[in-house]
Amino acid sequence: MLNGKDHPATGDVHGKNPGGGIVLTDPAVREKSDARKSSDALLILSQITSTVSALSELDAILGVGVEKTLEFIGGSYGGIMLLDKGNQSLTYRVYKGLSDEFARRMSVKLGEGVNGRVASTGKAILLDDISEEPEVLHSDLIRTEGLRAFISVPLRFRGAVLGVLNCASPQVRHFTENDMHLLHSIGDQLGFAIGHFRLHERLQEKRERYRDVARQVITAQEKEKKRISQELHDETSQMLAALTLNLKTLIEMARISGFKEEGFMTLLTKVHTAAVQINNEVNRIISDLRPTLLDSLGFIPAIRHYAESSLSPLDIKISFDLAGVTAPLSPEDEVNLFRWVQGIVGNIAQHSQARHVVIALQRKSNRLELRIDDDGVGFDVSKIGQMNNQKRRHGLGLIIAKERMKLIGGDCSVRSQPGKGTTVIAMIPLS
Ligand SMILES: Nc1ncnc2c1ncn2[C@@H]1O[C@H](COP(=O)(O)OP(=O)(O)OP(=O)(O)O)[C@@H](O)[C@H]1O
Ligand SMILES: [Mg+2]
Repeated sequence: MLNGKDHPATGDVHGKNPGGGIVLTDPAVREKSDARKSSDALLILSQITSTVSALSELDAILGVGVEKTLEFIGGSYGGIMLLDKGNQSLTYRVYKGLSDEFARRMSVKLGEGVNGRVASTGKAILLDDISEEPEVLHSDLIRTEGLRAFISVPLRFRGAVLGVLNCASPQVRHFTENDMHLLHSIGDQLGFAIGHFRLHERLQEKRERYRDVARQVITAQEKEKKRISQELHDETSQMLAALTLNLKTLIEMARISGFKEEGFMTLLTKVHTAAVQINNEVNRIISDLRPTLLDSLGFIPAIRHYAESSLSPLDIKISFDLAGVTAPLSPEDEVNLFRWVQGIVGNIAQHSQARHVVIALQRKSNRLELRIDDDGVGFDVSKIGQMNNQKRRHGLGLIIAKERMKLIGGDCSVRSQPGKGTTVIAMIPLS
């Protein structure tokens, strides 16, 4: 046992005060000093709170936390040890005044020594002189480092201890109850910062994984579309073309030979017409699967053609602002941008109820901006990726559109509001 001088979060602060401690006898002086200490404490707390919200680097936040705490306590050594859930041990993450050797070697298991007990019980431990404690771990290190008065508080987040904040001074001293309350508040602030930092990190990891999957889906889709379109083009379409030609030849031969069977000739003509229609349909699917329009027309006429053929049948008027802009894009960029247009135009046809659409291409120094505006019903952009009213997950189209742009080093932004139309912009760098 550590002399029974470990204290619950709100418990009394006991312990001896063998010289060097803060002993105030005159009540007037003590009141004044207590008032000043309280206002200092508030100041330190507010400085730490604003640091937590202003800085995004965890080490920087923890570093300021240690520094401010030492300033207030009048300590010379301090640091923050974080708990590794995997190996259940605490190691120093940031420290001040302590030697590198001490910080490196001072690793303790959960439940062991002063720090291990603070972390396992969630209760602070205050010691007037740690070098006198019989059950302390690494006592040789502590003596070499010159640590005497010592305080260790837990860093908690949502009921779990994530680490401990340690402060020490080279003199024996008596920590007050106020010191402990302040350190607890600081510990809670820092625990909150660590907890949020970890949640943020986990969220980032999940987002990254999700993006990876989206990228893989896009790449796999393109590959598969290419394979199917190739097969349709080389096999199915060729066979249909031959069938159409043969049927046409049959009709001609029947006509030349004076074959007069009315019913047979009507049926043959019908079969020929059906074969022509099927062939056209297969060719449409091929060009949808692989934007051959890009090869035959070039990028700008291809998007013009695609938008017109998708939106004009729905009585949606389209204005193009593509004049004078050349788009020196790589074949990969062209395909991705064309697919992007297909997704956005598809959404307009499917969801917007728009009457007018504007498609504009602009070159902005070394970037190309493709912008599509519609004056339709709009939607709440924050709902992308959530469930819709029919409890169906939607939003994959726009997410893939965004990932597609990221895949080629660009960016895609969506602006919309219910009743106020939609604007989607793709921005890609020109090499
Ligand atoms: N131009 C638009 N006008 C109005 N609403 C739109 C428009 N574009 C998208 N939306 C809304 O945003 C939702 C998400 O679009 P997104 O393209 O991501 O998915 P989807 O079209 O529902 O399904 P998918 O594209 O995966 O087939 C749509 O369901 C629709 O409610
Ligand atoms: Mg869609």
